[in-house]
Amino acid sequence: MLLENRIALITAAGSGMGQAAAKLFAKEGAHVIVVDVNEDATNQTVADIKAAGGSAQGEVVDVRDLDALKALADKVAAEHGKLDVLYNNVGIPGAAGMDLTLEEWNLATEINIRGSFFLSGYLTDLLKKSGNASVIWASSTSGLVGSPFSPMYSFHKGGVIALVRSMALALAADGVRVNGIAPGTTETPGLPAFFRASEEETKKRMEAFVATIPMGRAAQPSEMASVALFLASDMASFVTGVTIPVDGGMTAK
Ligand SMILES: NC(=O)c1ccc[n+]([C@@H]2O[C@H](COP(=O)([O-])OP(=O)(O)OC[C@H]3O[C@@H](n4cnc5c(N)ncnc54)[C@H](O)[C@@H]3O)[C@@H](O)[C@H]2O)c1
Repeated sequence: MLLENRIALITAAGSGMGQAAAKLFAKEGAHVIVVDVNEDATNQTVADIKAAGGSAQGEVVDVRDLDALKALADKVAAEHGKLDVLYNNVGIPGAAGMDLTLEEWNLATEINIRGSFFLSGYLTDLLKKSGNASVIWASSTSGLVGSPFSPMYSFHKGGVIALVRSMALALAADGVRVNGIAPGTTETPGLPAFFRASEEETKKRMEAFVATIPMGRAAQPSEMASVALFLASDMASFVTGVTIPVDGGMTAK
């Protein structure tokens, strides 16, 4: 098993890629701290992991709430004394276009950037205690290339890529590797929200979009989880400061 005796914390692990990674990391021997704002989804992920013979605990936290994030870090310190894997997976598409309200800006920025940044800071000492830690950030192909419909999202996800490099440099000497994953279109419960349209229109736009992906299909959450597992494990022991596109060739064009 690739993550035996490791403690792994994954945000937004109640759905999609976070849930897929939580299940895979647990299967590979990690104790997974499942963090999500949705209580039912959190409990479901934990129940699925336990039913499969894995080890997990659920923590219902809104990443916009910095006090709750600090309390979570304190709890991890008290219960585990170290953290080996931090997967900052939480993210939302947010509002489209450039003509945004301050509320729309704040909501997405707090979820896509601020919460994960502060949580990482609160957990840095615990990551250093691991001696062999891996931090993984969810970016997006929208952070690598321009996104005419979602400039704010593109800005957030491009910011993640810059942060991955800087955080990797800041923590390299402490045995903490920091990397990102830039997923292309992935079939998760959150995907329809990216198209910001009716169900019928979303289906049409999705089909048209998928036709432009060189591999001719969207990704499955498990295909992001396997890359996250690689980055979390010793298989990536000399990999730090990079963001890997996992996009069926989309950004190779
Ligand atoms: N799905 C895609 O095509 C795609 C493509 C590129 C990047 N991404 C990125 O990958 C990551 C995972 O996306 P997904 O599609 O698997 O997600 P998803 O929409 O399936 O799940 C999101 C989860 O985040 C939780 N969440 C939302 N707001 C929260 C908050 N304030 N605090 C805590 N939890 C909160 C939700 O309850 C939900 O369980 C995100 O960062 C997303 O931006 C997704």
